[in-house]
This record gives sequence, structure tokens and C-alpha cells, in this order.
Amino acid sequence: MSRVTVVGAGYVGLTTAACLADLGNVVVVVEIDEAKVQALSEHHHVHFYEPGLVEMVERNARAGRLSFTTSYADGLRGAEYAFIAVATPEGGDGEADVTAVESAAASIAEAMSGPLVIVNKSTVPIGTGDMVSDSVKRHNGRHAASVVSNPEFLREGQALGDFMKPDRIVIGSNDREAAEKVARLYAPLDAPVLITPEIYTAEMIKYASNSFLAARISFINEISRICERVNADIKVVAEGMGLDQRIGPSFLDAGLGYGGSCLPKDVKALAAFAERFDLHPGLLHAVMEINRDQRRLAVEKLAECLGPLGGRAVCLWGLAFKPNTDDLREAPSLDIARSLLRSGAHVSAYDPAAVERARAILPAIRYEPDAYAAAAGADGLILVTEWNEFRQVDLKRVCESMRTPVLIDGRNIYDPAQMRALGFTYRGIGRN
Ligand SMILES: NC(=O)c1ccc[n+]([C@@H]2O[C@H](COP(=O)([O-])OP(=O)(O)OC[C@H]3O[C@@H](n4cnc5c(N)ncnc54)[C@H](O)[C@@H]3O)[C@@H](O)[C@H]2O)c1
Repeated sequence: MSRVTVVGAGYVGLTTAACLADLGNVVVVVEIDEAKVQALSEHHHVHFYEPGLVEMVERNARAGRLSFTTSYADGLRGAEYAFIAVATPEGGDGEADVTAVESAAASIAEAMSGPLVIVNKSTVPIGTGDMVSDSVKRHNGRHAASVVSNPEFLREGQALGDFMKPDRIVIGSNDREAAEKVARLYAPLDAPVLITPEIYTAEMIKYASNSFLAARISFINEISRICERVNADIKVVAEGMGLDQRIGPSFLDAGLGYGGSCLPKDVKALAAFAERFDLHPGLLHAVMEINRDQRRLAVEKLAECLGPLGGRAVCLWGLAFKPNTDDLREAPSLDIARSLLRSGAHVSAYDPAAVERARAILPAIRYEPDAYAAAAGADGLILVTEWNEFRQVDLKRVCESMRTPVLIDGRNIYDPAQMRALGFTYRGIGRN
């Protein structure tokens, strides 16, 4: 059993805290947002949707292994490890804004009451670990702290499974002993652990991994545009490619492009970081450009089928940036909805989890409680997020309820021939 402090009760911090508590450690979460701390402490209320997390938080809080505070001094009392899991959003210049990491590091340094291993889980530009070390030296001359980079690779929507059964755990530090101490925390997971020889390499692995995943998505999306012109089917092309063991099947789904709180900002941050060294990251720029264009496709395809969209009723199925989350950060749905509203279309929408968040961002949309109500009377339906629920809908009923049954399948989840047989004018991505 170890005593762990986790700074930040967001997707990564709360998942890390709940999972480490579930492994038997005593974990205290330090979160600056009082309302979140109160909701977590008093009602075990989690302010975002992540399958299984509420139950895990509740179980461990009741067992006395997981608690929440706004006080760094309380949170760090007796701690051996302090994880930093605060947000690193896009800054003005495209690089990651590390203000929250700096502030967390300074607060940890001021409050720590003994030797500590500070573990950075936030995605940060290479060299941020040095900044954390300097901050500790500046703010606390009494106690030693070792800084370790331990980037997080979990996916929203399956965060608990990803934490408990990771493909790999990456740990990097200039202090090998501290890196090994962090590795011991993960020993019960029995997962491959890569300890890098110093901290920069670990920080780089996170950016390189996310950029590579984004590149695969943009690659298949580029191929999908060619497929449409030559009457090839991108789904089968991707299947054929993915069977090659050198390629593999993941992240080869053509669609409306990547979104979320990580891939867009991380590719951009790596490109901006490279430019700081007068490098020209042409591939990263191409990845971003393809992704931008891909988001326009749904509305373009709809206009091809319907003509001018002014006055048309358009329904969006799915708003979250991907299934099983309510996260709307950089979601393609937002660009699509804004573009439709700009064209003068009337937009209705349904999402199993993200409606409340969407309402705050896009009040001009009519939100409906289910997929049928959202589609009824529409001239066009765009499947934006491939929630499983949308695979089980009675599409005959949907088709009959629409004014003009145009279906833009932004994630290629339906069979084109079946959809046409039902009466839809159907457009997928990269398949005719
Ligand atoms: N969300 C993901 O799927 C994911 C996956 C891998 C890595 N990451 C990375 O992990 C980091 C965290 O992302 P997230 O999505 O969990 O962010 P988030 O915005 O969901 O959560 C951050 C939390 O930290 C709190 N906070 C901010 N400053 C603080 C401070 N000084 N002291 C205490 N609490 C503070 C915020 O109030 C918020 O609750 C980012 O760098 C992100 O790139 C995210």
C-alpha cells in the first residue's frame, strides 16, 4: 500500500485516483474547483460521463481509500507520490499551455512535508519535467523531490479498462530509482513497462504516439476521397490493409475526422514545438489540414443531395467527439452544427450522453430525447458519432418519418445497399 496524491479530478486524474485506490493504495485527490470536490466528497458525483467510474469512486471512497480536498497541505500529508493530471490545452501559439502544470508544481512544492516523487501525467512539451524540478527547488529548499514523466494513454469511454489493462506503461526520469518506484505502483497490473533513460524521451513518446494515431486517421481519410472517385470501398480497403501485420486494423476508420481533447491539440503542439527549432513538420501539417477538410464533408455531401440548406431541417445523431463519452472538446459535431446554422438550416440533435453539455455551447439547436424524435420531419440526417445505439435503431421507421430521407453516414456504420433499399438517399465516406 502506498500513499498517493493526485492533482486534478478530471478524466485522467479521477481515473488514475480511483484505479490506484482500487489497487489498494490510499489516494487523496487535490482539485481546485470546490464544487467538484464537494460533489465528489458528499455524493460521489462525477461531473463527466465515464462508464464504471462513479461505481469505482463510490466503492473506494466508502472503503476509506479515496478522498478529495481543495487543500494541497491536507492532500500531501504523508504522501510518497504526487501525480499531476491537470489540463494542458492549446495555447495561443499552438503549443500546449502549461500554466496549470506550473501552478500545480508550485503548489506541491510549497505544501510538501517530506521527500516526494512528483509524477507528471499531463501531456506536456518536452522539457516540462525540468520546469517542475526547478519549481520545486525554487519553492521548497527543505525536501527533495524527484520528477518522473508517466504519460497517460487512456481513451475516454474505456478509461478504466485502459488504466487497468494498458498496452504499456511509459516511465521516464533522470532519477532511475524514482522511475522504478513509480513502476512498483503499477506492478499489480502486470503490464509491459518501458523505463526510458531520461525524462525527455518519455515526454516525447506521448506526443509521437498521438500524432501517429492522428496520422493514421488522416491517411485513411485521404485514401477514402480517392476511393469515392474510383468506386472503391474504403471499408474493404481498410480491412485489406489491416490484415497486414505490419499495418494492423486500428485507427483505420474513414469518417468525419478526429476530435477530442487530445489528438487535435497534441498534433498542433508537436508541430509548433518542432517549429521552435526551425524544423518543418510537413507531415504533421498535412495531418491537420486533411482533418480540417474532412469535417466539411458531411455538410458538403448534404448540400449535394439537397441543394441550398437554408430553411432545411437537418438532424444530427451523436454530438460527443466519440461514443461512450459526453466530451465535446474539438468534436466534429460542433463544426458541423455551426456550419449548418450559418447556412440557415434548422438543426435538431440527439446524443445519449452529451446533450446537456451541447446545450450550453449551442443553444440554437433543438435537442430531442431520442433518435426518432430528432429525425422526425428532417430533410437530412447526419450520423456524426457512432454510438452503438444508432446501429440498433429501426431505420425503416426513421426513413418514413423524414420529410426527405437523406442519410449522411459520417462513420460508415450502415450498409449502403440496405439503406437504399429502405428508401434513403445514402452517402457514406469513401464508398458509393
Ligand atoms: N482526457 C483524455 O482522454 C486524456 C488522455 C490522455 C492524456 N490526457 C492528458 O491529461 C491531462 C489532463 O486531461 P483531462 O482531460 O483529465 O483534463 P480535465 O480538464 O478533464 O481535468 C483537469 C482538472 O484539473 C483541475 N485543475 C486545474 N488546475 C489545477 C490546480 N492547479 N490544482 C488542482 N486542480 C487543478 C481542473 O479543475 C480539472 O478538474 C492533459 O494534459 C491531457 O492532454 C488526457
